[in-house]
Amino acid sequence: MRLSRRALLAGAAGATGLAVSGCSDWSPSQTGELVKSGLELPKRFQVPLPVPQPLRPASTSAAGDVFEIVQREVELEILPGVRTTALTYGGTFPGPLLETRTGRPATIKHRNAMPVPSVVHLHGGHTPSDSDGFPTDLVEPGADRSYTYPMTQRASTLWYHDHRMDFTGEQVYRGLVGVHLIRDDEDDALPLPKDEREIPLVIVDRSFDEHGQFAYPAAVPGRYADHGDHSGHHGGGSNSRDPQFGADDGHVEGVLGDVILVNGAPWPVLEVDAARYRFRILNGCNARRLDLALDPAPPRRTFVQVGSDGGLLEKPIGHDHLVVAQAERFDVVVDFSSYDVGQEVTMVNRIGSGSTAQIMRFVVARKATDDSAPTDKLGRLSTIEPLDTSGARRRLWKFGKGDPSSDSSGDAWTVNNKLFDPEEPQARVPLGEVEIWRFRSDMFHPVHVHLDPFQVLSRHGKELGDFDHGWKDTVDVRPGEEVEVAVRFTQHRGRYVLHCHNLEHEDRMMMAAFETV
Ligand code: C2O
Ligand code: CU
Ligand code: CU
Repeated sequence: MRLSRRALLAGAAGATGLAVSGCSDWSPSQTGELVKSGLELPKRFQVPLPVPQPLRPASTSAAGDVFEIVQREVELEILPGVRTTALTYGGTFPGPLLETRTGRPATIKHRNAMPVPSVVHLHGGHTPSDSDGFPTDLVEPGADRSYTYPMTQRASTLWYHDHRMDFTGEQVYRGLVGVHLIRDDEDDALPLPKDEREIPLVIVDRSFDEHGQFAYPAAVPGRYADHGDHSGHHGGGSNSRDPQFGADDGHVEGVLGDVILVNGAPWPVLEVDAARYRFRILNGCNARRLDLALDPAPPRRTFVQVGSDGGLLEKPIGHDHLVVAQAERFDVVVDFSSYDVGQEVTMVNRIGSGSTAQIMRFVVARKATDDSAPTDKLGRLSTIEPLDTSGARRRLWKFGKGDPSSDSSGDAWTVNNKLFDPEEPQARVPLGEVEIWRFRSDMFHPVHVHLDPFQVLSRHGKELGDFDHGWKDTVDVRPGEEVEVAVRFTQHRGRYVLHCHNLEHEDRMMMAAFETV
């Protein structure tokens, strides 16, 4: 089975040019191949921004809250007047907003009413192994599974998404994405914008074919409902079938779309008060990196960042723009009070081109009172204890093409020259011990670690970058770079993964299992 996989990958990789540039002249750019939509793109800034609504628990008790989600295939009107079949959590794309509290366990019972197996992962969750969504822990069509989250972690902006082995890219693309906010007393007590002025923004790029369907360049076109052979073509034993990856050989570097969706709507528009807003920004794209700014920019810092992947920063950081790699979250305050009523403010993507250079629009509709604190008065937000790295064990994780002459990897996407093997952990990591992990990459690879967040220590031997602060679970590793992070796993023993969050790289084996012991 290794050989047939290798043969497939070797053939694929030959078709792509791998450009490796040095880090010195780094500029934000993309790794991926654009799929062009087969229909006329809608006019921008016409559709109101949908705001995901919190799911009510099906039951609550002293033991915690239980939520129920049915994963189903539905037809949605994503582009005006166009019907698109989507795979959804509960019938919407993105799925329902999950809101839970630190210290209060939550169980999410997922029923798979879709024609394909699924796996649910809470990205950023401090989750026991059997609920973490290991890529081979499939929930078959018709089956259900309760994922339990102890919620022994601080307030943060998490998200949940599909994690099915080899098909994560395709199934996320088709709609299996949602936001999960954890709240706690510390976060609640801060004078940040709330209620209708606190809004998650899930940004994704998609393309649509001439029939309005998601134009995911699947290895087996039109057969997602019937990929079969999901019983695991990995991990031992012989298998006469060729593996069927989510994306075809023309999209080995990643799938880029030409339609920007925010909360499931194309280039939407949001009427805002001339006041401060808290946006929980998630880059949910499969392969597209984003560089967000506002046009026109407000007179002072555009984005005041208050939190990162793993919750509040120690103190706010002002940014004129935000480079957001896939899966990263930025919790930011934007102040619209300096704009005139009637002003249109466009969120742009500085590394997009053509249709992807714009994200959404805000229209400042009215003056309004604001009882949130001005961002320059926010002061200290939280306390982040720096992990003590003295005497820490170091591990190197190399993200790149494998060695073409090696039998084990071919020239697939690999971690340490190895293809993902769910049965073979690449590391055994003792709970409670701080380790220094070095992520080295050949090109853009947003590296994500399950179970616990990390602290970025350095980027290419220098200080951390503007977007590396706080507790992170995903870090954008740029071409030729090495990023050092301090990580410490606690509480949960078992198997987990780290991987590239370019989903086409992940599906093509750029993932490693590790075991906490
Ligand atoms: Cu967001 Cu392992 O995934
Ligand atoms: Cu994750
Ligand atoms: Cu990658």
